[in-house]
Amino acid sequence: MIQIRLAGPEDAAAIASHRYPGESGGHLAVYADWLPGAMSDGRYLGWLAMQGGQVIGGAGLLLLHWQPSRTDPNPVRGRVVNVFVEAEFRRQGVARNLLQTLLAEARNLRLGVLNLGSNAEGRSLYNSLGFQASETEMWLSLM
Ligand SMILES: CC(C)(COP(=O)(O)OP(=O)(O)OC[C@H]1O[C@@H](n2cnc3c(N)ncnc32)[C@H](O)[C@@H]1OP(=O)(O)O)[C@@H](O)C(=O)NCCC(=O)NCCS
Repeated sequence: MIQIRLAGPEDAAAIASHRYPGESGGHLAVYADWLPGAMSDGRYLGWLAMQGGQVIGGAGLLLLHWQPSRTDPNPVRGRVVNVFVEAEFRRQGVARNLLQTLLAEARNLRLGVLNLGSNAEGRSLYNSLGFQASETEMWLSLM
């Protein structure tokens, strides 16, 4: 049976592997090093899907200092990150279950808006949960 649990700092390596599946570069270690602090001060909330003691997927919620707006008085904005399910467990509703858990907590925290970056694989799942694509956002890399 698949269960969803809150992630803790000890899960940093598993979460980093969800962010960079199949990779092993220094960026993975940088991310895993950053996570425990972000979790302990509440900037990062994570959930893991477990089966038989094994992590089979996960999803994260970044709580970003933003600003209040006309439509959303809460100055904190949520960003959904690190949504990943191991290949053999896909198309069984695991990601949906993780995201519904995350959405329940976002509502509990009274967040007004969540955003995320999607690839083609995740788009229809996110659409079915109510996410819409933006026609107004632009971005610029300063790296
Ligand atoms: C995208 C990803 C997270 C989805 O995980 P998942 O656990 O397979 O997702 P779900 O099972 O909840 O839903 C996926 C699809 O399976 C379908 N599904 C769910 N249960 C099903 C079942 N029992 N039988 C058949 N299909 C089912 C869902 O309806 C959904 O269909 P859709 O994509 O057409 O909307 C997973 O494919 C993944 O980890 N991909 C690699 C990482 C990645 O791309 N992450 C997303 C970044 S934006």
